Parts: sequence; C-alpha cells; structure tokens
Amino acid sequence: MSQTLTIALSKGRILDDTLPLLKQAGIEPVEDLEKSRKLIFTTSDPNVRLLIVRATDVPTYVEHGAADLGVAGKDVLLEYGSQGLYEPLDLRIANCKLMTAGPVNTPEPKGRLRVATKFVNVAKRYYAEQGRQVEVIKLYGSMELAPLVGLADKIIDVVDTGNTLKANGLEPQELIATISSRLIVNKASMKMKHARITALIEQLGQAVEQRAG
Ligand code: ATP
Ligand code: PRP
Repeated sequence: MSQTLTIALSKGRILDDTLPLLKQAGIEPVEDLEKSRKLIFTTSDPNVRLLIVRATDVPTYVEHGAADLGVAGKDVLLEYGSQGLYEPLDLRIANCKLMTAGPVNTPEPKGRLRVATKFVNVAKRYYAEQGRQVEVIKLYGSMELAPLVGLADKIIDVVDTGNTLKANGLEPQELIATISSRLIVNKASMKMKHARITALIEQLGQAVEQRAG
C-alpha cells in the first residue's frame, strides 16, 4: 500500500497560515502556489502532493477520499457536517468568531426574523435550538449588504476585527461559535495510511505548539 498523501488546501489565509506549519513538518511546495494557476502541486516530499480547492469544498474532497487530509475552517465544518471526517488537530490559525450581526441600535422586528447567510445549516440549527421561527436566506458573499437594502434583518457571518461590520453600520450581536482552522482526515485513509498520517499529525501538532509558544 502506497503511503502517498494528498492534502487539500484553499488559497488565501488558510494557505498562508498552513504553509509554515507544513514546512516545519518537512513539506514545502516546489513552486509558488499563489502565483500559479495550477491546482495540483508536488512538494519537497516526493510522497506528498497538495491540491488547491475552494475553502468550502475542502471537506468534500476529504470525505470522498480525493484528498487524504485537508485544512478547513470550523465554520465550514459546522456547515458541512463533519461526521464523515476525522478532525484530529486544531491548527489555531485563521481565528475568528461566527456571529449574528445586525444594524446598530435597531430593535428586532416583531414578526419572523429574516437572516441572510452562507451558513444556512448553522443558522437553522442555531435558531431551532432557541425555538425561534426564522426565514433563512442563502447568500454566497457580501452578507453585510443584506440588512442595508432590506433583504434581511440580520446576518450570520465570521467576524475578526469587526471592521467589515462597522464599515457597513452593523454590530456583532450573538456569538455562535469561536472558529479556527482544523486538520481533517479521510476515515479510510486514517486506517490505510495510519503510520504516515499519525506521524504527520504529531509533527504538525508540534509546529502548532511552537508557533503558539
Ligand atoms: P470561499 O473562497 O470558498 O468563498 P472564503 O472566502 O470564506 O471561502 P477565506 O476568506 O480564505 O475563504 O477563509 C477561509 C477561512 O478562514 C474561513 O472558513 C474562516 O474559518 C476563516 N476566516 C474567514 N474570514 C476571516 C477573518 N476575517 N479573519 C480570520 N479568519 C477568517
Ligand atoms: C471575511 C468575512 C468578513 C470579514 C470579517 O471576509 O467574510 O466579511 O472577513 O473580518 P473583520 O471582522 O476583520 O472585518 P474576507 O476578508 O475573507 O473576504 P471575503 O469576503 O472575500 O471572504
């Protein structure tokens, strides 16, 4: 059985923050991923290759075994539903909060709340737990716009500095979850490539600790 590993990453902050951790585990891409249009990359380790996919697609590649491992935000995992995946390591990168937000100093409407978000499953779960009737409106981005133009009363989105909300006259309200990116592993790969994957988890765990310390 080959111990070749395929790791799915997304461009942007996850790539920026994961590459230094992989480097400490002896894995470096042989070319600049941000500059290339390619989607598969070889690395300094002949048995490891990297895939570049959309952030929201990382769990799909890993659950289906097209990648053995991946790095995904906990927000993405909460939305995807991660029972088909192992989540062995918190990489403590891309830290933010998943929150409700709404217009500053604006009371909630009396009737059914309209909530715009790309995290539809998270939103439905969150309000169901509170026994609240809401209409969830699916968006793919620029959620902050929705309350400004009357599409929704509130949004659910990730918040870091709060600057994006503030710039649009919105304020963070309820905390749904604290978010960081996680290493995820395909369940069959974990069995079939156990030694190689547990060694990598160990090395990445040390890199995370060093970075935090
Ligand atoms: P897609 O490209 O599929 O739309 P995306 O734009 O959400 O995804 P990124 O912006 O790269 O992708 O975010 C990747 C992850 O980083 C998110 O899933 C979230 O966990 C985290 N994140 C998003 N925004 C911030 C932020 N402002 N600060 C810190 N972490 C963030
Ligand atoms: C993310 C997120 C928020 C913003 C929050 O967007 O969608 O809009 O960050 O960060 P803040 O609280 O520090 O302002 P990102 O910068 O990733 O751009 P994107 O919309 O292209 O994902």
